[in-house]
Formats: sequence, structure tokens, C-alpha cells
Amino acid sequence: MNKFIAIVGSNSNKSTNRELLKYMQRHFQPQAEIELVEIAGLPIFKKSADKYVPQEAKEIAKKIESSDGVIIATPEYDHSIPAVLSSALAWLSYGIHPFVDKPVMITGASYGSLGSSRAQAQLRQILDSPELKARIMPSSEFLLGHSLQAFDDNGNLNDQDVAKELDGLFKDFLQFVNISKQLNNANVVNKQKVEKFSWDKD
Ligand SMILES: Cc1cc2nc3c(=O)[nH]c(=O)nc-3n(C[C@H](O)[C@H](O)[C@H](O)COP(=O)(O)O)c2cc1C
Repeated sequence: MNKFIAIVGSNSNKSTNRELLKYMQRHFQPQAEIELVEIAGLPIFKKSADKYVPQEAKEIAKKIESSDGVIIATPEYDHSIPAVLSSALAWLSYGIHPFVDKPVMITGASYGSLGSSRAQAQLRQILDSPELKARIMPSSEFLLGHSLQAFDDNGNLNDQDVAKELDGLFKDFLQFVNISKQLNNANVVNKQKVEKFSWDKD
């Protein structure tokens, strides 16, 4: 069975993005093992002469490396991803490179009608950068709009059409993960390239 890491892109105690990932964890349990990972404990990203990376970031990187894929749920703050998510991704591309060629499914929830669409587009661009170099599922987005009203008391999605849409996208993600396992011819070179890369003048 595939094992996925689900990154909660929020540091708030009450988050509909966390609710979405918890729903996915429960609902897709027969198809995949999904472990939720919080980024709230990470310090804000900071460059340093000794390229220090906090232990918490290294531990998240290890989990991502040993997983079959990653699901990210991003909120939207001022039309962009939250600072805490941006910072976490910076740590996860600073001397450690767990995302290289890793299949990623982008999801997100927002209070408005657009379901974090702008944040998701931005996240896709970030994950495509050379030091993250994730394999993002193409032509797909799951936008959970009006997320405060989206779940019932048991944490299930109220709208059956929305639930069906997510079922379909998750099925696609499972297939995308399988296909991605065959698209690994450049993986060794990609890993070497990113490990040699440095923004600093050495
Ligand atoms: C500073 C701030 C900015 C926000 N900006 C947006 C926004 O641009 N678009 C949006 O849909 N919701 C915005 N929101 C509302 C929600 O925080 C947002 O919809 C978020 O995705 C909800 O996710 P959460 O339930 O996981 O916290 C904003 C909230 C705050 C406090």
C-alpha cells in the first residue's frame, strides 16, 4: 500500500485545511496510508554561514524521502501561500532535497469561493523550482471553497459532488504515483545536480 505524507500548510489551531487532510486520511484509508505532518513547530527560515538546518526540518525531510508521495493542503492569505508554508519549503530545499522527483498532489481550502486557487498556483510554481523539483500532478487542482461550511459534524464533506471530485482526483494521484515510479531515469542525475548546487560563492 502507498504511504503518503500530508503537509498541513497552516499553523493555526483551527484549520479547514487540516480538516480536509484528516478527511482524506480517513476516507482513503483502504487505498493508502496517509500521515499528517505539521509545520507549525519549524522556525522561520534563515540562511546562515554554516547552513544550519533545524532537526524538525530534517525529520520532515526523512518522512518525505521514505514516502511514495506528498499531499499538501494550502490556505490562502492575501492571494498567496502562508508564510509558514513558504518558510517550511525553504528549509526543505536548503542543503536537503526530499522533494526531488517526489509525486505531489496539491489541494487547498479557503473561506471564499475560489478555494485557494491563487495560493495553489503559486505553490505549483514554488515546487517546480530547481532545489525542490517535485513531480507535481499535472492539470489538476482540488479547490475547496467556502471551507467553513464544507464539513459536517463527523468531518465528512457535505457536498457529494465535491466528495466525488476528490475521489476521482485521488484515484488519479494513485495512478500518477505508479507512473512516476517508472519515470525515474534522470533521478540519480537530478539528485546529484541538486546536491552540488549552491547559491553561495564557495
Ligand atoms: C491575513 C488573512 C488573509 C486572508 N486572505 C485570503 C485570501 O486571499 N483568499 C481567501 O480565500 N481567504 C483569505 N483569508 C481567509 C482564510 O484564512 C483562508 O480562506 C484560508 O485559506 C482558510 O484556511 P484554514 O481554514 O486552513 O485556516 C485570509 C485570512 C487572513 C487572516
